[in-house]
Amino acid sequence: MSRIYEALQKAESERASGSSLPTREEPTRGYHARAAAALALAEPEPELENDSFPSAPLPIPETFHSPLGLDVDAVCARPWDPNLAALPALLERGPAVEQFRSLRSRIYELRDIKPMRSILISSGLPQEGKSFVATNLALSLARNRNSRVLLIDGDMRRYTLHKVLGCDPHPGLADYLANRADMQEVMQRCAPPKNGSGGNLPGIANLTLIPGGDGGDRASDLSASPRFAELLQNAGAVFDWIIIDSSPVLPVSDAVNYSRAADGVLLVARSGVTQFTTAQQAQAQLKTANLLGFVLNAVAKAPQLGSYYGYDSRQEQAHAGTLP
Ligand SMILES: Nc1ncnc2c1ncn2[C@@H]1O[C@H](COP(=O)(O)OP(=O)(O)OP(=O)(O)O)[C@@H](O)[C@H]1O
Ligand SMILES: [Mg+2]
Repeated sequence: MSRIYEALQKAESERASGSSLPTREEPTRGYHARAAAALALAEPEPELENDSFPSAPLPIPETFHSPLGLDVDAVCARPWDPNLAALPALLERGPAVEQFRSLRSRIYELRDIKPMRSILISSGLPQEGKSFVATNLALSLARNRNSRVLLIDGDMRRYTLHKVLGCDPHPGLADYLANRADMQEVMQRCAPPKNGSGGNLPGIANLTLIPGGDGGDRASDLSASPRFAELLQNAGAVFDWIIIDSSPVLPVSDAVNYSRAADGVLLVARSGVTQFTTAQQAQAQLKTANLLGFVLNAVAKAPQLGSYYGYDSRQEQAHAGTLP
């Protein structure tokens, strides 16, 4: 875990030095420069050399029907209008896309050690980048053409994923957990290109969303419903990956409730904003969960990969055509 603390201390020192960071007022500027950095995943040690080689996906059944009859191909396709400025994982190149690829590779490595399909994304406090990391990680995983990815907006208080993807927030997780809708009814996919501008974007076709719905005052109770574990279990039979965005762990209990059902948890710390003690408290709240590590988000200077040993990621990607 020492690498976690190093990363957090770096975040703390950046905060102390007052580095300029995106604010609520300028949310979508500077994604290229301020990459989300995948740092300090707790396990495995030592770090593997080659982090760009994805492991084989877990076998998924030939028929995409879960025991409860969930049929991914029959999930309702609706027009989406993704906000590209908030989705750097869709870009062909750049520091942000590289960092999400790197995060993805670390996760593949962890899955090689221990089976894992569902990952909860949380942080200590609001506005640290949970939704940003959840959405871009989900898209990065979905760019592997063999991956089916379910993205769940588990923040039923401030649900935002539908805004980033440009789609309807209803019906959503809150409706499912309150028993007003079944699993398949709350899922949606992006309609093919003629109906929605997002259809051609890399990874979008492999992505299924459960938006937040509106949990309102009941969010805490709803998040503790056994229907959430059921959802992960049944969706796990048909999706390779399930990424769950959530509310912050320190003010409300929703994420801790979800963490009991998720296979792993990633905590987000915002560089220059998240205080070391906040991150420690967040980690303490999740002591019974399988904490995979921290993601240090919004790092002012992303690592310069291009010049290392003459390796130019842009050239490599140009040769390869598109990212997987
Ligand atoms: N790496 C980044 N670069 C630039 N902007 C970012 C980055 N990460 C997050 N943001 C922006 O910061 C704001 C907060 O991010 P986000 O909504 O992901 O945080 P959150 O932790 O989910 O917040 P909340 O707790 O309110 O749900 C958003 O406007 C988002 O677009
Ligand atoms: Mg959020």
